[in-house]
Amino acid sequence: MRRYIVNSPFKKLPTQEFDVVIAGGGLSGLYTALNIRSSLRVALLVKANLAQANSLLAQGGIAAAVKDDDSPEIHYKDTLRASAGLANTDNVKVLVENGSAEIKHLALLGVKFDSDDQGNWLTTSEGAHKRARILHCGGDATGKLIMQQMISLVRTRSNIEVFENHFLTDIITHQDNTVAGVVAMGDHFKVLKAGQVVVATGGIGGIYQHSTNYSITTGDGIAAALRAGARLNNMEFVQFHPTAFYNPGSNKSLFLISEAVRGEGGILKNHKGEAFMQFRHKFKDLAPRDVVSREIFREMTEAGTDHVFLDIRSKGQKYLQTRFPTIFDHLKENGISMHNHLIPVLPAQHYFMGGIQTNAYGQTSLQGLYACGEAACTGVHGANRLASNSLLECVVFGSRVAESINNANLKQVDLPDENPAKYTKSRLDIKALTLSVRKMMQDYGGIARSPQGLVHALDHLTKVMAMCELSDLKSSDAFELLNMSLVGREILLAALARRESIGSHYMEEEPEIALYPVW
Ligand code: SIN
Repeated sequence: MRRYIVNSPFKKLPTQEFDVVIAGGGLSGLYTALNIRSSLRVALLVKANLAQANSLLAQGGIAAAVKDDDSPEIHYKDTLRASAGLANTDNVKVLVENGSAEIKHLALLGVKFDSDDQGNWLTTSEGAHKRARILHCGGDATGKLIMQQMISLVRTRSNIEVFENHFLTDIITHQDNTVAGVVAMGDHFKVLKAGQVVVATGGIGGIYQHSTNYSITTGDGIAAALRAGARLNNMEFVQFHPTAFYNPGSNKSLFLISEAVRGEGGILKNHKGEAFMQFRHKFKDLAPRDVVSREIFREMTEAGTDHVFLDIRSKGQKYLQTRFPTIFDHLKENGISMHNHLIPVLPAQHYFMGGIQTNAYGQTSLQGLYACGEAACTGVHGANRLASNSLLECVVFGSRVAESINNANLKQVDLPDENPAKYTKSRLDIKALTLSVRKMMQDYGGIARSPQGLVHALDHLTKVMAMCELSDLKSSDAFELLNMSLVGREILLAALARRESIGSHYMEEEPEIALYPVW
């Protein structure tokens, strides 16, 4: 595997020095940055700008046991069941036991969770939760409102320097696997020297043809960590959200119809008008996400259709407009009134349970390298993430990464005398190859997989990766193509290695198993 994207010696590149570099401007990156003590100099690298992170798109909310009828124990069991029993139980305990405290901290930082007239937080239900424990902001604008508050706080911190439009290309390490900083591409390659590097670059949606993520979410941090030799885990587990808006006219990432719509009474229907989830799972439309996505996929395949419907006409216009303003307006712009029409929906890639393996403090297998948020694999989601545990993971583990950095013994770092290899001028048709990778992952690495399909896709991605590795890569789309092929291959390889169907990893013709007591 090619070790570095950059092909000039680090010591010849413009260099700035920090105590900590955080790559990623989503909730995990910002929350980590805000929890790092103000005496440390922090560089925050953002691939596009702070207004373009997937955390901003999170609608439904953030799960935590904050109500009297709930407890971390019940949240723990729900998380473990949804994960098909594959979650890391110690880290799930960390997640659920710290949930309530981090919610209170967010409120202290100025986040306004929706509340009733007495000021009590409102909570709703989502798939596979036995309690209504999803807090939300602005109805269905939870991610946006939390992020706006975090962004404004980051902007006030003089110890945090934000580098927008900077692509993390490489994590620099010494021979002994200690981290020395990163290489980033803005207008040109530059080195940001630091002994503590946090990867918070989010997931992998851009590797798939249909995703609710921004298409620039191409697993760049995971790929850079892999090139640096960090251990990855659970790479076969890719989550498909059951209800993205089916809008064949749009070539953008797919718009999400929050699971909270089903939490408030929405029912899935097929083209015959049948409420098919009634017969497929004890929790019906609020079954775990992997189950619902697979059942929709089955309906679509059997009926030869490319979508099903979500019916929330049982609620009136006023209620829907207030509870789901973002969704209501988006659908209206596309000719659909939630209170009058069925909403056409289909499953789409949404989240990645795999990533850079970390412990409960976000520490990876490399000294000085941390990961948190979707790029990390703490193991809390196992084979399928429980709805609305992702924003919670960002704050719980982001805060622990910061704690570990605040307590670290920070030393002066030197750059290694690396002289990376020279490569030939690129003749790649990057656009065509990118589309081909996305299609392969969608068709063969998606909701339903087979050994033959996985091998076929692996063969293609291996060729793409080899071509990229031999080329002099200079642009973001070229770096993305390399990263997509690299991370896509890891997903396919892990999927091939796991022959049983479990959680989000469904192998056609293999019986489904779960390692935790049934519902
Ligand atoms: C949603 O609102 O359905 C998304 C929440 C999540 O991904 O957990």
